[in-house]
Amino acid sequence: MLKNRNLINADDFTTEETLEILNLAQDIIKSPESFSDLCNGKILGTLFFEPSTRTRLSFESAIHRLGGDCIGFTESKSSSAAKGESLADTIRTVSNYVDVIAMRHPNEGSATLASDYAEVPLINAGDGGHQHPTQTLTDLLTILETKDTLENLTIGFCGDLKFGRTVHSLTKAMSKYPNNKFIFISPEELQIPRYIKMQLEAKGVEFKEVEKLQEVIDKLDILYMTRVQRERFFNEADYIRLKDSYILDNKKLKNAKKDLAILHPLPRVNEISTEVDSDPRALYFKQVKYGVFVRMALILKLLGVR
Ligand code: NCD
Repeated sequence: MLKNRNLINADDFTTEETLEILNLAQDIIKSPESFSDLCNGKILGTLFFEPSTRTRLSFESAIHRLGGDCIGFTESKSSSAAKGESLADTIRTVSNYVDVIAMRHPNEGSATLASDYAEVPLINAGDGGHQHPTQTLTDLLTILETKDTLENLTIGFCGDLKFGRTVHSLTKAMSKYPNNKFIFISPEELQIPRYIKMQLEAKGVEFKEVEKLQEVIDKLDILYMTRVQRERFFNEADYIRLKDSYILDNKKLKNAKKDLAILHPLPRVNEISTEVDSDPRALYFKQVKYGVFVRMALILKLLGVR
């Protein structure tokens, strides 16, 4: 049962529970109109202490498409956080106004803290450089729809693997399925955190780290590109030095598999040349579309409607 649960980390739900959400999202894709009034009278709170385009708007679109409503704020400046209110007090307050909360916050661990004070289900819509589990549901749905499986895949993560929370969450989630292998492609300074490597080692999951995308591109079933996370850098000079480490273009894709799936959580800055957009293997705008359906499914489950 997913009713009244929180979603803080990508592995909070079992593989069976995750599949329930993905399958419900697939049902919604087939016939969205039959879900259009299931959340009548329900309110989603979107508390965004950090910028967002896709995550917030897809949550808002999702609740509207289910017949519900939504209230919230889009920056901490317009909430009482600007007056010094604690996160705990904000969450206690908002719990009186809504049936479910989606929150994005710049601090790692903020979602766990918020869930201690929330009286309604709390969804982590990104907590600093830590986790982003609803992007992971979006990514899983995209993989399932494209590959028809979540197993036996070689996944290459490329770019900022240190601060990229979507990478941390998807690695956590995909390592639960049998026979997936990971290749982490990054400059030395932006390597995947050690604690994640230790978790993979403990589970006996196969992975390797390389610096050059070209060395491994022919091995990949999925290439997950990421933006260098400027806002999490302490030093602008380091950002400038590293920002264009990888730019995927048609030439680099020459040796890639014919059925490679190219994913990116977006926003893209420079890391995928726009010439790649017309390649049928480029799935990042499909991901955007699936993001709404999967969030509709998640809301239905957490509210116990389905
Ligand atoms: C990501 C995020 O916010 O972590 N975007 C998203 O939610 N789709 C990735 C990013 O900001 O680079």
